[in-house]
Amino acid sequence: MERISRLFRTRFDKQPVLYRAPGRVNIIGEHTDYNDGYVMPMNTALFTRVAAAPRNDRRVRAHSVLFDENFEFSLDKLEPGGAPAWAEYAKGVAFALQAESYGLAGADLMIDGDIPLGGGLSSSASLEAVIGVALLGSSGLEADPMKLALMCQRAEHEFAGVPCGIMDQAVITTCPQGHAMKLDCRSLELEFIPLPDDLCLLVIDSGVKHQLSDGGYRQRREECDFAIALLAAEEEGVSSYRDVSLEMIGRHATALGKLPLRRARHVVSETQRVRDAVQAMAANDLETLGQLINGSHASLRDDFMVSCEELDFIQQTASETPGVYGSRMVGGGFGGCAIALIDPACLEDARAHIVRAYTEYSGAEPWSHVVESAPPAGLA
Ligand code: GLA
Repeated sequence: MERISRLFRTRFDKQPVLYRAPGRVNIIGEHTDYNDGYVMPMNTALFTRVAAAPRNDRRVRAHSVLFDENFEFSLDKLEPGGAPAWAEYAKGVAFALQAESYGLAGADLMIDGDIPLGGGLSSSASLEAVIGVALLGSSGLEADPMKLALMCQRAEHEFAGVPCGIMDQAVITTCPQGHAMKLDCRSLELEFIPLPDDLCLLVIDSGVKHQLSDGGYRQRREECDFAIALLAAEEEGVSSYRDVSLEMIGRHATALGKLPLRRARHVVSETQRVRDAVQAMAANDLETLGQLINGSHASLRDDFMVSCEELDFIQQTASETPGVYGSRMVGGGFGGCAIALIDPACLEDARAHIVRAYTEYSGAEPWSHVVESAPPAGLA
């Protein structure tokens, strides 16, 4: 944190206030958020940080340490396009805040962070959230955390062009330290579940870079929308995936066609796995939790088809390693990270084994990270 303050003072010649937002690791519930399902993510102590000071001329001057780039914009003229990707997020969040009538004054912002980009740990939602709290804070304002999440999601849709769900923004703005969040993505009802003491989560980066704006994510959304529209037209009382059973999907197999059927089957089975995982975690039944996590990976690989060979290798190696309860790819997919749930007594041996195996497989040592629960976006 000292570094960003120092950089801020050198560039802007004033004293900043410091904000930060964590990264997120999704324990279970993948591609269910935009399908009215459940998710159960938590925050981890990797952060996007902003040093900020108010301006009163309705301008935002921003500097990204990571990209060593400046961008300046007026709060009176906010349209998508024309800025580096990181600055589009800042513009998008400012736009969404103003659209909800938050009267922003302006700010100088220095942005830095240590969440790997495109790694499936929500570096973008973390950036949106920290920009949100910094722009609000610099104008003497605050927002309800879930409302902030929705405004950040709007920024992602309209300025980054990614039709994401609400999971990432919601956990990053709301979830208290020491807890996972169960979110009902239909009602936006939240429940915070204490994390078991005797459980470690290890993140292993496959090194395969993904970009949700690349098209695979949008295509999955369209396939899910197609399947639910068909089921809703055929079945009385069905308006969302929450009203759909596996048996119902089976009955419409021919009309759905092969791929939409698989997408729908993933959504419905994954939503049930989240329900079961919440119970398993509350009962400290880590064996069952691990099996559900392995099941989630199999479904993402075979039915939703968003895994890749590298993630499958890590998942398989991890799930066969002593002390590992279960493992799966995490986030939107097509690359990024996998997680493994590990008995703390076995953590170091298991980590060394998985890292060694993946280094031999891929030729490069993967980045890995032991998840440490962190507070939501706010003052640092
Ligand atoms: C990305 C999106 C989320 C969610 C996941 C998949 O992280 O931002 O909204 O859809 O993919 O579970």
